[in-house]
Amino acid sequence: MSRGRLVALEGGEGCGKSTQAARLATRLGAVLTREPGGTAVGERVRDLLLDPALVDLDPRAEALFMAAARAQHVAEVISPALAAGHDVVTDRYAHSSLAYQGFGRGLDVEAVRALSDFATGGLWPDLVVLLDVPADVAAGRLGALDRFEAAGAAFHQRVVEGFRALAAAEPDRWVVVSGVGSVDDVAERVWQAVSR
Ligand code: TYD
Repeated sequence: MSRGRLVALEGGEGCGKSTQAARLATRLGAVLTREPGGTAVGERVRDLLLDPALVDLDPRAEALFMAAARAQHVAEVISPALAAGHDVVTDRYAHSSLAYQGFGRGLDVEAVRALSDFATGGLWPDLVVLLDVPADVAAGRLGALDRFEAAGAAFHQRVVEGFRALAAAEPDRWVVVSGVGSVDDVAERVWQAVSR
């Protein structure tokens, strides 16, 4: 039996990636999961990370919580599924840490990469789909704000530009798909990109 493939959906806030991750997983017959979260431990860490009441979480502590949740996610869900031959679609993965904690919070991107490398035992996605949407479209899709969504426009601009830079640096691993349009239109674009 061959090992499954790991596909990550990435993007800024309000890009529609959770909807598209679910659609893609169904169409591929893949396991669907998400970060931060995907395990009982990870979902508890997620609650902490998204809580807007936590006003002074240090960026390094934030990066370490993300990495801790990811380590559990890989050990408990992703690696066993891939080993059993299942494809896995994850709604965010390690490149979110590079974009948010690196480009967004200003931590050294290579240090955050090394941290994710440690957390995952070196497991990086076979393919990353970046859902790209203009900032005004994304803002129109948000409801009540969590701790990241409340972080301000300049932060989110750095995150979006960070994702674009990461995609440009590794064109064999990334596909950039426009997230503008109906759910069906975007799903079709994602499918075409992944099929290629
Ligand atoms: P998510 O549920 O995907 O949020 P949304 O659907 O609003 O885009 O992710 C939760 C938040 O966690 C999101 O704001 C991005 C942030 N995040 C990081 O900062 N670093 C990470 O490594 C991950 C996985 C997520």
